Amino acid sequence: MKILVTGGAGFVGSNLVARLDALGGHEIVVLDNEVSGARAAIADCAHTFIAGDITDPIAVERAMEGVEAVVHLAADTRVIPSIEAPRFNFDVNVAGSLVILETMRKLGIKRLVNASTGGAIIGDATPPVHEGMVAAPLSPYGASKLAVEGYCSAYAASYGMNAASLRFSNVYGPRSWHKGSVVALFIKQILKGETLTVYGDGGQTRDYVHARDLADGIVAALGSDVSGPVQLGTGIGTPLDEIIDLLREISGEDIAVDYKPFRAGEIVHNWCDIGHARAAIGYDPKIGLAEGLEETWRWFVDNREKLAL
Ligand SMILES: NC(=O)c1ccc[n+]([C@@H]2O[C@H](COP(=O)([O-])OP(=O)(O)OC[C@H]3O[C@@H](n4cnc5c(N)ncnc54)[C@H](O)[C@@H]3O)[C@@H](O)[C@H]2O)c1
Repeated sequence: MKILVTGGAGFVGSNLVARLDALGGHEIVVLDNEVSGARAAIADCAHTFIAGDITDPIAVERAMEGVEAVVHLAADTRVIPSIEAPRFNFDVNVAGSLVILETMRKLGIKRLVNASTGGAIIGDATPPVHEGMVAAPLSPYGASKLAVEGYCSAYAASYGMNAASLRFSNVYGPRSWHKGSVVALFIKQILKGETLTVYGDGGQTRDYVHARDLADGIVAALGSDVSGPVQLGTGIGTPLDEIIDLLREISGEDIAVDYKPFRAGEIVHNWCDIGHARAAIGYDPKIGLAEGLEETWRWFVDNREKLAL
């Protein structure tokens, strides 16, 4: 199958491209403007790279030539900047996704796997979050993802597409050099000998899913005809202090932590129910946190010079 991966040079994208390449049997096209990702991240994987923007219909049409399925990952993923500049976030995430959907409609491409999010869409709810909950985004980023889920649903119903919106939980893993999410940030800070900052008492929980388990979920969704939202995580809420303790053990470093008051609006507990993903696409995350963090730490250590850490 010839597959277009938008945002394929980013964190989730580069792990997916590596997975598809390892599985074999696919022709992979990547469309990415390298605003946060970099084509160097997938230099070890067979693919065709197209430098371009998802808001540009000409670039998108060129990238979709002969393609049978699209995995749409490209987005402005920054939550706080989306609060400061909601229009920019809308233009990339919503208007850009409409270009993807419209070009698919024009070319008759029927299969879309769209990257969405659980936490940012559902808002402050008692976990586990699941697909049946009423959405109440707390940020323009969350609202943009919910809007795109709406367009995916409408295009599926109106034009006979299969459009699954996979709601990722907190993804961690190798190839996350540029990410400010907690595991990547903490590892970079530990390597620089910096003190970690925790907002809150360290008991706040998140659902940390390894990027390779997530990539397997995306591949499973591609091979199915599932439409609509599907929550992908592990189903386990892990306290932040447990992540720090594991990183202490793995790194052998004496890590200092500065605990500050909780930030306004921050959700304290969040993890998801993956029952629908298990039933609908046979999703089955396998990588335990200790193993996954060890691999991620090793990746950063091995690439330390290249990353100038
Ligand atoms: N990482 C997570 O924990 C997480 C959680 C929930 C949802 N998601 C979603 O998963 C997707 C991938 O996230 P990620 O963590 O890999 O982020 P990332 O920033 O590493 O990857 C995004 C990629 O898209 C590219 N891009 C951005 N704007 C573009 C544009 N206008 N045109 C073309 N390319 C563009 C970037 O250069 C980058 O390579 C996003 O849609 C994000 O919202 C991620």
